[in-house]
Amino acid sequence: MALREIVTLGSPTEPVLHQTAERVRVFDGDLHQLLDDMLETMREAPGVGLAAPQIGVSRRIAVIEYPEDEENPQGTGRVYELINPEIIKAKGSEVAQEGCLSLPNIAADVDRATQVVVRAQDRTGAEVRLKAYGWLARIFQHEIDHLHGVLMTERAEQVYRLMEDESGKIVAVPLERET
Ligand code: CO
Repeated sequence: MALREIVTLGSPTEPVLHQTAERVRVFDGDLHQLLDDMLETMREAPGVGLAAPQIGVSRRIAVIEYPEDEENPQGTGRVYELINPEIIKAKGSEVAQEGCLSLPNIAADVDRATQVVVRAQDRTGAEVRLKAYGWLARIFQHEIDHLHGVLMTERAEQVYRLMEDESGKIVAVPLERET
């Protein structure tokens, strides 16, 4: 496995974050290598989700690892590998603050569905259907947005810059809306 560089806003490779990713048609060793690298890169960051465009690969692939133990998040959650994912059902609505590995020190209040059903393929190409609720549903929607070139800030009701206050505590400072 190998760590890949994460594309962030303002980096020379930023345009890949705004592109529509291409459908995966070949489920071979190269794809498996890419998935393994994505998982390693996401864990190292650390993050709970990573879409292929975030490492400069414009293909419809995302990995998610949702921690079941909030106190000790690394490696405790189920790993999802989503290839060519599509949201086929969405229900409910909730605004919450999320982050993104491609937007360091930024947080955003985003309205997301609270339940989704996703149709995707696994690393062998087999079709899978996944049902997700709450925070996991939010992560699915955030990562699938990346595959459409959509960043959380484009959907945000409010964007924040994360800064340290005098005591070293991280605080979210609301940013003026760009119109
Ligand atoms: Co993101």
